[in-house]
Amino acid sequence: MHISAECYPVAKVGGLGDVVGTIAKHQFKAKHNVSVVIPCYETKFIKEHEFETIHSSKVKLGHFNFPFSVRKGVNPDLGFDLFLIAIPELFDRSDIYGYKDDIERFMAFQIATLDWFVSQDSQFDIIHCHDHHTAIIPFMMQQAFNYETLKAIPSLLTVHNALYQGQFGFDKLHYFPNYDLSKTHQLEWGGCINSLAVGLKCARAITTVSPNYLNEINHIGYGLETLFNQSRYKSRGILNGIDNEVWNPKKDILITLNYNEDDFEFGKQKNKEKLCNLFNLNIEYPLISFVGRLYEEKGADLLAEIARKTIVRNNNKINILILGSGNKDIEESLNLVLNDCAGSYNVCIEFNEKLAHQIYAGSDFILMPSRIESCGLNQMYGYRYGTIPIVRRTGGLIDTVIDINEGGYGICHDQATVEDVCNAIQRAYELYQDKEKIKIIAKSGMMLNHSWENAYQEYLKMYNLIIK
Ligand code: GLC
Repeated sequence: MHISAECYPVAKVGGLGDVVGTIAKHQFKAKHNVSVVIPCYETKFIKEHEFETIHSSKVKLGHFNFPFSVRKGVNPDLGFDLFLIAIPELFDRSDIYGYKDDIERFMAFQIATLDWFVSQDSQFDIIHCHDHHTAIIPFMMQQAFNYETLKAIPSLLTVHNALYQGQFGFDKLHYFPNYDLSKTHQLEWGGCINSLAVGLKCARAITTVSPNYLNEINHIGYGLETLFNQSRYKSRGILNGIDNEVWNPKKDILITLNYNEDDFEFGKQKNKEKLCNLFNLNIEYPLISFVGRLYEEKGADLLAEIARKTIVRNNNKINILILGSGNKDIEESLNLVLNDCAGSYNVCIEFNEKLAHQIYAGSDFILMPSRIESCGLNQMYGYRYGTIPIVRRTGGLIDTVIDINEGGYGICHDQATVEDVCNAIQRAYELYQDKEKIKIIAKSGMMLNHSWENAYQEYLKMYNLIIK
């Protein structure tokens, strides 16, 4: 049973959603009995599909009692069983995160999920939790009196992003169902209750979404370094894969023209034409795009200046396109660039899955100046669509992108600074002028295999190990 805040295509903000949806699909296909449980938000997918209520009750959170129900997808054709925990007062909202009561929302979600498991006498081989929103589950399963019957079930916590930890004060301790009070120290980290720390301490095993990220967080773990080090004996880095069915230029219905490794030049040109028309860009020049959440973590605060500098440096003979949403100041800074650089630059401030596919298909390069990237999926989507990644050497980007000068198919740089990123873009600009070379690089990237098969096998090994 996967427990998560996101699951593609039902509810997605970023890579967490993609990964949970893909793991579950692959495990199910391999004939495992796999389910996913997430909160019932007001997303488009949930509004447009049919669900039946299979359980109703109340969840107690401190002094509050929220009615909740469990809803099961009738026939959503996801490739796995999906359950939604509907707590209308807390989750009947269009966004997934970003509310003042996020702590209450995800605590109630975790408690309701376990209440439901217990009421059904559920038997699982593994409970697989993802990120801090579900990281208190292993503690509650072991220590809360109500969940005695779940105590022996092994739990795995996958860390997709250690920057977000779900901290809250001990004034909210009464949210917890009654538990063995001598175990309160397991909740504490840095003077408060830290959800991710609780998961690291209590889960039977831990995975990070790339091997290199696991090495990094032992040194740069956003305050959790010691804990990551102490948990090293039960941790493993498993590199994410991508869903080759959803991300497939040969069959993708969200792009203008399908293409493969042999006719990709023509195919990409047609897709680029579409993008350039849509965003008033010049098809003659290289198109470098950024897709993602607009946060400092992704280096998005640097993008406005990077765009201005690069465009001036190359006398407007380059295109920069940005798609994403997030931090309001960053969004504004990106909109401002439009005043000076229209014709070479454009930005679309929204979450738009369809446009993202078109951008991978129609761009020449995909830019990832991330400060932090536990795995990163965009570079792999880029490869698949013949779009060369330009990445900062960090986290999972180190595991997946090797520089052209070192025999790989991407462009790498070291610093998350405007200067360093602009220099990397300059290398991309020069590569673009060498038509033969860029063709070989793009084609070689398309032939790389980042499917889920490898990750699937690694997770299976991990599951078997902790079951034993
Ligand atoms: C988070 C990370 C990203 C990773 C994804 C899936 O979104 O920021 O690097 O690829 O989770 O694991």
